[in-house]
Amino acid sequence: MPPPLPTLLPTLPPAAHAGDTLAAIDTPALLLDLDAFERNLDAMQAAASAAGVALRPHAKAHKTPAIALAQLQRGAVGICCQKVSEALPFLQAGVADIHISNQTVGLPKAMLLAQLSLHGRFSVCVDAVQQVADLAAATAALASRLAVFIEIDIGQGRCGVADAPAVLRLLDALAPHPQLRFGGLQAYQGGVQHVRGHAQRRDAAARAAERTAAMVAALAAAGVACPVVTGGGSGSVEFDLASGVYTELQPGSYVFMDADYGRNEAGAALRLDHSLFVASTVMSVGGGGRCILDAGLKSLAVDSGLPLVWQAGAPSSTLTYAAANDEHGIVRAADGAGLPALGSQLLLVPGHCDPTLNLHDALVAVRGGVVQDLWPVAARGLSR
Ligand SMILES: Cc1ncc(COP(=O)(O)O)c(C=O)c1O
Repeated sequence: MPPPLPTLLPTLPPAAHAGDTLAAIDTPALLLDLDAFERNLDAMQAAASAAGVALRPHAKAHKTPAIALAQLQRGAVGICCQKVSEALPFLQAGVADIHISNQTVGLPKAMLLAQLSLHGRFSVCVDAVQQVADLAAATAALASRLAVFIEIDIGQGRCGVADAPAVLRLLDALAPHPQLRFGGLQAYQGGVQHVRGHAQRRDAAARAAERTAAMVAALAAAGVACPVVTGGGSGSVEFDLASGVYTELQPGSYVFMDADYGRNEAGAALRLDHSLFVASTVMSVGGGGRCILDAGLKSLAVDSGLPLVWQAGAPSSTLTYAAANDEHGIVRAADGAGLPALGSQLLLVPGHCDPTLNLHDALVAVRGGVVQDLWPVAARGLSR
């Protein structure tokens, strides 16, 4: 018998190729509906431009350089990243203006940031003198420059200092370091973003903006001007734009509008559509009015609720994604309603976009049901 021919180990093919139809996509796969996505980009940029407020979209939502470039092309002044490491693939892709909307602690992170800022315009937040000391040491060692934002707590109870004297103490800490420029204030209230009622969200955003305005006024009274006041997210942006307080806004999820954001009552001023889906396949059809999908916890974040089953451009009226196991999704049909056949594809709107993106290597960009491109989620897993 002749010896067996040597064979190469196969490599994993991509989930889809340009020109494929939806049915040809190997699931679970993350899908971007380009028409809805571009409408969202245009609507947000138009709203910001009309209000004369700079748009600095948050890249933590998408982690995808191709999306950042599309935002910049429409007029965004730069992007935000939440972690220093997250900024790397964006810088590599040519995004030159990146705000780290977060604090960094310790020299390794400060050194990486100081290194990155030799290649672009970088800024970062502080709320403690020790953070300033680390940034000062790192930028001095590398002869680099950073803009430093002082984060204020406007009600979220996360990071940020509480009062004007604390801001002044941080300004004193910055003063001896000419390579660290005071960029302004960051004021973000995450709790406002998901207040469901439109009027209630408007009121909550107004309370947060009032706290920001009070801080700006207290600093002005102490002779300190804030060149930039940055903050806001997708749920509050329409109110923040009109507040007159913010010079720059940081919405992230608006590009996708996950199922959680879909539960917010929308206002007339800013209409945003679901553009992000997980394509999944019915892998088993059991009894008891249920079928099993191939997309569970490893394909979808469920911290903000289970995904919506999406059919014919709307949430399904008969199918409910009832539970997520690691690799399985359990879908139940309403009484008397039919179940999809084994092998059929179901689209799901994820509950929370940010951690869902972090589970996927690529976004399959689709227009009119046809795959156009695969966009690497290049900052996936970069959480340091
Ligand atoms: C500091 C900061 N800015 C902006 C955002 C963007 O928020 P969203 O994705 O809800 O628009 C977030 C989200 O958590 C954030 O933490």
